[in-house]
Amino acid sequence: MAENVRPETMERITTEQLAQQFIDEQLTALRQQIGDKKVLLALSGGVDSSVVAALLIKAIGQNLVCVHVNHGLLRKGEPEQVIQVFRNELNANLIYVDATDRFLDKLAGVSDPEAKRKIIGGEFIDVFAEEARKLDGVAFLAQGTIYPDILESGPVKSHHNVGGLPADIAERFELVEPIKFLFKDEVRVVGKQLGLPDNMVYRQPFPGPGLGVRCPGAITRDRLEAVRESDAILREEFAKNGLEGKVWQYFTVVPDFKSTGVRDGQRSFDWPVIIRAVNTRDAMQASIEPIPYELLAHITARITSEVKGVNRVLYDVTPKPTGTIEYE
Ligand code: XMP
Repeated sequence: MAENVRPETMERITTEQLAQQFIDEQLTALRQQIGDKKVLLALSGGVDSSVVAALLIKAIGQNLVCVHVNHGLLRKGEPEQVIQVFRNELNANLIYVDATDRFLDKLAGVSDPEAKRKIIGGEFIDVFAEEARKLDGVAFLAQGTIYPDILESGPVKSHHNVGGLPADIAERFELVEPIKFLFKDEVRVVGKQLGLPDNMVYRQPFPGPGLGVRCPGAITRDRLEAVRESDAILREEFAKNGLEGKVWQYFTVVPDFKSTGVRDGQRSFDWPVIIRAVNTRDAMQASIEPIPYELLAHITARITSEVKGVNRVLYDVTPKPTGTIEYE
């Protein structure tokens, strides 16, 4: 009986202490695995790759080479934040590639959602591989694989399929996956413990093809800008009004049609902005967040006055099913 009584002298272990223990163990293991060789990492600014970067910076400093590819479909302020946090604050060895024109030129006139995804994914790999070919002495490729990725994808990918890279690049690298046994909430705790900013650690899910799937049909630069600007206003207002941590995912979509409106006594012919705000556990089903009407009205007023080419705002009240969360 006495054996099952918790000794009074035993201290409680906090989540932070557990996270620190994980970090310390990983730093030792990473230094042992990598030695004085170099590691390459595609740093998107998402929580997984950011945590991997922060761990490796602590473990091997300048021997980590981060590549941040801006495909032109990132949210407002994202590339700037990656540069600020990693290059300026954490002193990372960061290569920033602004590939906006290259992506948008390839996407011009392409309206099929799957074709768009393929171009974005394929071009991303090409840009990353080009950067990798320029570097000497890189022996490892770090990836932000987390446990659900492994559970979903089954057996570990073959060496020659490292990160989906072409064989000539992939075969040069051994994989480094320091967070592959963590769940998302654990990754966030580790990120917080490593000192990453809250808006990076707790950020809402953001699809790989970025704003490209929120600009349905063929992407044009002006409509993409309307998506980016309206999304920034929505995020700012949700943060100001206490909805940031409460709503699982929220964003705007600018569909490819125009409608008649009126502005300054003149007829206008502009796009609508659709607001989507959903809650879900696993993204398989989703419910709609009831946003206070006054806030919706305020966001509408801001978007229609601040975003170029927009004359209406619509709020999508469709759960999943029948609507998916994204529009493409
Ligand atoms: P749907 O639209 O299928 O989205 O209800 C479910 C969740 O998955 C995200 N999503 C993606 N994430 N690449 C990604 O990395 C994609 O192509 C992609 N498509 C959808 C979506 O944002 C939502 O969280």
